[in-house]
Amino acid sequence: MNSKFILLSIALLMPLYLAQNVFIEKLIAYNKWSSKNLRTFLNNEEKLFRQLVFFENLQKVNYHNAQDHHTYSLALNQFSDMTEEEFAEKILMQSDLVDLHIQQTASHNSTSSTTGGSTSSNSTSNNATVTVDWRSKGAVTPVKQQGYCSSCWAFSAAGLMESFNFIKNKNLTDFSEQQLVDCVNSANGYSSKGCSGGWPASAIDYSSKFGITTLQNYPYIGVQKKCNITGTNNGFKPKSWKQIPNTSKDLQNALNYSPVSIAVDASTWSHYKSGVYNGCNQTDIKINHGVLAIGYDSLGNWIVKNSWGTGWGEQGYIRLAPNNTCGILSYNYQITA
Ligand SMILES: *[C@@H]1O[C@H](CO)[C@@H](O)[C@H](O)[C@H]1NC(C)=O
Ligand SMILES: *[C@@H]1O[C@H](CO)[C@@H](O)[C@H](O)[C@H]1NC(C)=O
Ligand SMILES: *[C@@H]1O[C@H](CO)[C@@H](O)[C@H](O)[C@H]1NC(C)=O
Ligand SMILES: *[C@@H]1O[C@H](CO)[C@@H](O)[C@H](O)[C@H]1NC(C)=O
Ligand SMILES: *[C@@H]1O[C@H](CO)[C@@H](O)[C@H](O)[C@H]1NC(C)=O
Ligand SMILES: *[C@@H]1O[C@H](CO)[C@@H](O)[C@H](O)[C@H]1NC(C)=O
Ligand SMILES: *[C@@H]1O[C@H](CO)[C@@H](O)[C@H](O)[C@H]1NC(C)=O
Ligand SMILES: *[C@@H]1O[C@H](CO)[C@@H](O)[C@H](O)[C@H]1NC(C)=O
Repeated sequence: MNSKFILLSIALLMPLYLAQNVFIEKLIAYNKWSSKNLRTFLNNEEKLFRQLVFFENLQKVNYHNAQDHHTYSLALNQFSDMTEEEFAEKILMQSDLVDLHIQQTASHNSTSSTTGGSTSSNSTSNNATVTVDWRSKGAVTPVKQQGYCSSCWAFSAAGLMESFNFIKNKNLTDFSEQQLVDCVNSANGYSSKGCSGGWPASAIDYSSKFGITTLQNYPYIGVQKKCNITGTNNGFKPKSWKQIPNTSKDLQNALNYSPVSIAVDASTWSHYKSGVYNGCNQTDIKINHGVLAIGYDSLGNWIVKNSWGTGWGEQGYIRLAPNNTCGILSYNYQITA
């Protein structure tokens, strides 16, 4: 073999060699991820499919993080072997149902006034402080994990009631999301559907009538079961609540009073790790997730508590860019008494 031929062979084989190296890196990443995220598979085909989805998500995360113009970073997490469509289906709510509900609430506002809810006109004065973070006042319970159940609405409502109970009664107690998942249903006159989605305002209305018990009393299991509550005196009962008008000023003013149950478009949130998020398609907002706003910083970024565990985002939180990022101003509630 002459040296020319060897050089030529190396030149020809180099791309293959590099590609293999890249593949080995991906495999190592997959093995590392799957030792932390234990999965069971129906069969080998599913196992292979999940692995390919993981590789695609890995590439998306690496590509995003390699660009330096972003204000936020991504990371692998429990959603990394799910496609965007599966994530929307299993974790988020159906946005067309949410839209319909928001429209109906807007056009049937007389029903809410009989139950204690009301919509106030938007605020013209603004005496909001420069920053708010209810965590620093000890008013926010630990971040929860909703699992593979579209119960975000129950976590959003429970979080709101927990914080309000602390601010009013100086008692920070975890409330039962499972009670809301099981009991805020058609038998009680609500259109919420447990693990298939629901409305924070219904959960608040239900709690005002039956009382919400503690998490300890009625633990979270993440599947919808028969309602296991009797009587109407089961715990904390909100007396009145209101919808927050959809301006930044109104949400800021509201956050000076307490955290706020908010609805957002979380279609693109699955791999958020840290920083100020502005990755939603602002011309195509589809409200599909309920969370809890707990403050804002001096630049106007919203601080939001999610229910996907502390391994997601900034210890379970996300910061959203100012104004109507991800539709954060669309459909918000606060307890007033
Ligand atoms: C909302 O309620 C107020 C007072 O009850 C009523 O005057 C108004 O017409 C209602 N708006 C809609 C859109 O139904
Ligand atoms: C807020 O209310 C004022 C009058 O009360 C109105 O002119 C303005 O359009 C409202 N803004 C929004 C965003 O609804
Ligand atoms: C706080 O509230 C919980 C649930 O209602 C109750 O069990 C507990 O005793 C309260 N703690 C205090 C210090 O009042
Ligand atoms: C219902 O709650 C009671 C006590 O609160 C408990 O003993 C019982 O096991 C629960 N039933 C179900 C089906 O979870
Ligand atoms: C805010 O609400 C008004 C009606 O009250 C609506 O016309 C407007 O489009 C909403 N804006 C946003 C950003 O949702
Ligand atoms: C804003 O100012 C008004 C009038 O001075 C006051 O009633 C209200 O409580 C203040 N709101 C906040 C959040 O401080
Ligand atoms: C955002 O949504 C609009 C409307 O659906 C669409 O035309 C556009 O391509 C989307 N932009 C991105 C970056 O996905
Ligand atoms: C957000 O609001 C601020 C003022 O509150 C304004 O200066 C800025 O242009 C807004 N940004 C967008 C993207 O609307």
